[in-house]
Amino acid sequence: MSNLFPTYQRKDIHFVKGNGSYLIDDQNKHYLDFLSGIAVCNLGHCHPKIVSALHNQIESLWHVSNLFTIKKQEEVAKILCKSFENGLAFFCNSGTEANEAAIKLARKYTGKSHIISFKQSFHGRTFGSMAATGQSKIHEGYGEMLNGFSYVQFNDLEELQAEITENTGAIILEVIQGEGGVIVGEEGFFEGITALCEKYELLLIVDEVQTGIGRTGTMFAYEQTPLKPDIITLAKGLGNGIPVGALIGDKKLASAFSYGSHGSTFGGNYLAMTSAYETVNIINQKEFLATVKEKGDYLKNKLTEIKEQFPIVEELRGKGLMIGIECNQNVSLLVDQLLAKGLIVGTAGPNTLRLLPPLTISHEEIDEAVYYMKEVMAQFSLNKEQVI
Ligand SMILES: Cc1ncc(COP(=O)(O)O)c(C=O)c1O
Repeated sequence: MSNLFPTYQRKDIHFVKGNGSYLIDDQNKHYLDFLSGIAVCNLGHCHPKIVSALHNQIESLWHVSNLFTIKKQEEVAKILCKSFENGLAFFCNSGTEANEAAIKLARKYTGKSHIISFKQSFHGRTFGSMAATGQSKIHEGYGEMLNGFSYVQFNDLEELQAEITENTGAIILEVIQGEGGVIVGEEGFFEGITALCEKYELLLIVDEVQTGIGRTGTMFAYEQTPLKPDIITLAKGLGNGIPVGALIGDKKLASAFSYGSHGSTFGGNYLAMTSAYETVNIINQKEFLATVKEKGDYLKNKLTEIKEQFPIVEELRGKGLMIGIECNQNVSLLVDQLLAKGLIVGTAGPNTLRLLPPLTISHEEIDEAVYYMKEVMAQFSLNKEQVI
């Protein structure tokens, strides 16, 4: 009998080693990892630069409190703020915590408690971030939510505008709703949001926990949109697997996060910052980000061929190396069959496969994944030519 709460439906596979794009189980079976720990190991498993930096760090110092200067925090913040001008960082330990901090910062700075969020969004599991999440199944059974949130349809500007009141202080959104089904925000919608934020002096919080750190081909996904965030939140890929979260906010917000107003014991500790520093140093380079875009296009082209060949595929969505494959049926069996072949993929809702390979994936590894997908999809749908 397990001594763990059953909060996850865990597969009975025991990974013992990770190497680049592959995970290896206790039977020495190799799996091509197209999930990356849900958009976490963006540089693959056990990247040699991070391994070496962590080795050095672990032998010298693990943790001191934030009552002392941790220089690596400044260095990581500097790299993150290359893409977010006038930014200040606050380090924490997860995406949930980063969003919790963003909610607190927005409420304190604006003095207003109404924050507009979107249906199908996902922002985390604490009372604040859970309340920010526009999915009733996440709220179910937990009693009264933190008040002040309302939820409107994603990509519906009119509904959003109608929701703004005198007490609205901020809007929180994902550029691509990840957990909600890999739903991409539309350009016109984002243009409208920027205009509304200017007109009503609303803060814009962009949750980049899943889309950030190069996942969509730019350091942050909002950079490919007309959005002008005041706050972005990060976690997942930031430490490539060492737990770390961050909030980056405009300097104008500094007075609301003054001494004593927020904190974290572990936030930005030496191990987290060592991993984050190596990770963002590699990813936040033009040349590296260009390879993500190129490989994203390569994968999308291959998947378009699959879509044309197999009627099970209804729609392809996403950007860079964050891709959703919506199917005409529940995909849980498909995920299991891919796993049996040695390919790990995720889901986003019942009918959508979610692909989040490491950003370091090679073209050959993409071909390998596409080969498995074709084999499995063939069992799930008649060839289109046969259908005709
Ligand atoms: C967009 C987004 N925000 C927040 C979170 C919560 O992050 P964490 O699980 O690190 O608390 C997630 C996790 O999936 C996410 O996808």
